[in-house]
Amino acid sequence: MAIVKRWIDAHILNRIAINTWRTDFRVNEEYVNISSNFAIIDILANKTNLLRHESGFFRLEYTPLPEDVIKEASKRVLEIFSTRANNQQSRAREVLDRHSNISPSRNFGHRLIRDFHREQIAGSWRSDSLQSAIDFYVQKSVIRDDIKRVASNPYKHLNEARHLFRKALATEAPSHSNLDLVDLAISLTPSPEERAELFQRLVLATTGFLGASLEWLLLDAHRHKSLHRETASELFVRESLRLSSPACRLARTFVERSSIGNIEVSPGDTALLNVKQGNRDPKTWNNPDTFMPSRWLSQTPSKVDLTFGKGRGICPARNPSIETLSAFSESLKEDLYIEFWKVPGSSPLVGTLLTPPRGIFVKRSLKT
Ligand code: HEM
Repeated sequence: MAIVKRWIDAHILNRIAINTWRTDFRVNEEYVNISSNFAIIDILANKTNLLRHESGFFRLEYTPLPEDVIKEASKRVLEIFSTRANNQQSRAREVLDRHSNISPSRNFGHRLIRDFHREQIAGSWRSDSLQSAIDFYVQKSVIRDDIKRVASNPYKHLNEARHLFRKALATEAPSHSNLDLVDLAISLTPSPEERAELFQRLVLATTGFLGASLEWLLLDAHRHKSLHRETASELFVRESLRLSSPACRLARTFVERSSIGNIEVSPGDTALLNVKQGNRDPKTWNNPDTFMPSRWLSQTPSKVDLTFGKGRGICPARNPSIETLSAFSESLKEDLYIEFWKVPGSSPLVGTLLTPPRGIFVKRSLKT
C-alpha cells in the first residue's frame, strides 16, 4: 500500500511540476525547479563549469563517456541518421499503412519509429536474435518500465532487454559500409555489458524520444486539421515539439556554490530544468500557449527553443529527427487526416518522456 501511495504521489507531483509550475524558480524537497527559459539556457550553455558533466545517453550508469568520445560518437549519430533514401515521405506512409489500427497502447509511436528507422537502428544484415531483442525492448520496456518504476518490480523488462542485447550483440561485427547504431555501440567499448547498456540507450533515444514526438504530432494534426494541411511540415513539426516537449525536463547537478535567480545552490544540489514550461515562458514566447507554426518563420524561436537541449549535451540527432517527423506529417497531407478518440479520464503521462493521453488514432480518407 505504501509503495502504491509513493508511486501515486511521485506521479501527481511530476504532473503538477511539469504542467503547472510557471514560477521561474521554485524549491521543493529535492530539487530546485527552474521554468525560466532564460535561466535554463544560461545553465545549459554558460554555467557548464558549475555543473557535473552529464550525458543523456552516452553514459554508463550515471558516468558520462569521456568528452572526446562523446564528440566523436555524436558525429557518428548524425552520419547514421543522415544516410537514408530520398523517398522518406512514401516510406512514412508505408509505415503508417502497415500499422493500420493505431490502438490505444501507450507506445504505438515507438513501434512506428522502430519500423521507420529499422536500418539505422540495426541494419537488415544483423541477426534475427538482435532484431527480436530490439522488438522486445520497444514493445515491453521503453515506456512501460518508466510507468511502473516504483509500483512494481523496478525495470523488470529493462533488465531482460539488457540481457537479450548482451547475448545478441556478442556475435555482431562492425559493418564497413552502412553504419548503424550497433556499429556505434560496439565501437565505444569492448565490454559486452557496456555495449548492451549503450545500445539500449541509443534505441531508447531513437524509438522513445522520436516515438513520443510522433504521437504528439499526430494528435496536433487532429487538433489543427486545416492548419496542418496549409502549413509547411517543418514549421508544424517544430511547433508541435515546442508545445509538447517530449523531453519535458532535464536534471543537472551542481559541483560549485552558485545562485540561480534568487536561490542559493550548493554542491550536490540538483536543478530540474522544466523544458516544457521553458518552451512556454511568456517572457520569451508571444502567445506561448497558442499553436502557431508561423512563428518559426523568424530566426528567434530556434535560438530559445529547448526541445533538444542546449550547450554541450545538445541532441546530435535534432535535424534528422525533424526530417523524420516532417516526412510523417507530409505523408498524411495528400489524402488522409487523423482523428483521435481519447480514452475518458486519461491524461498525458509524465515520466522520462512526456506522452499523450491514451486514445485511438483513426486514419480517415479525405476523399470519402
Ligand atoms: C524528437 C526527438 C528527440 C528529442 C526531443 C531529443 C531530445 C534530446 C535532449 C533534450 C537531449 C539533451 C539531454 C540533456 O542535456 O540532458 C538529447 C541528447 C541526446 N540525444 Fe536526443 N532527442 C531526440 C531524438 C534523438 C535521436 C533519434 C537520437 C539517436 C540516437 C538521439 C540521441 C541523443 C544523444 C546521443 C544525446 C546525448 C548527447 C550528448 O551527451 O552529448 N536523440 N536529446
